[in-house]
Amino acid sequence: MKKYLVAIALLVFIGACNSNGSDKKTEAAATAAPANDLSANPDYQKGVSLIAKSDCLTCHKTDSKLIGPAYKDVAAKYENNAANVAMLASKIIKGGTGVWGQIPMTPHATLSEADATALAKYVLLLRK
Ligand code: HEC
Repeated sequence: MKKYLVAIALLVFIGACNSNGSDKKTEAAATAAPANDLSANPDYQKGVSLIAKSDCLTCHKTDSKLIGPAYKDVAAKYENNAANVAMLASKIIKGGTGVWGQIPMTPHATLSEADATALAKYVLLLRK
């Protein structure tokens, strides 16, 4: 008789473990990270509006190479950190050549440092 009681106790115990396992799964699904939506990011919004006012789109597209590299390729090349933002901001103002090929980027001497920094931040945000 004792043996049966032990067996029943074991079955109840195993049942309890199983239901615990499925509770954990539902918890993980509920806390999954939301999709990365850039449109609400202030740096992204600032970049979009500055680019619309400048000549960047003559030579750059977001997803494919035009005269200059695609912004998403620039974002893939450089980690998004303060040093790279400063380096790209200065290149946007001064122009330059030799990183993506022999075609030069024209200088943008009338851009303020703050705007060039915002543009560099925007480009680096496009990293996947
Ligand atoms: C006349 C065409 C032209 C215009 C206008 C232009 N670019 Fe470029 N851009 C280029 C070319 C060409 C390169 C690649 C330069 C190189 O190989 O060093 C480039 C490179 C870049 C890079 C990457 C720099 C690097 O060193 O990796 C960034 C960021 C960039 N452009 C942003 C901008 C922004 C922002 C604007 C608008 C303010 C702009 N560009 C306007 C042609 C242009």
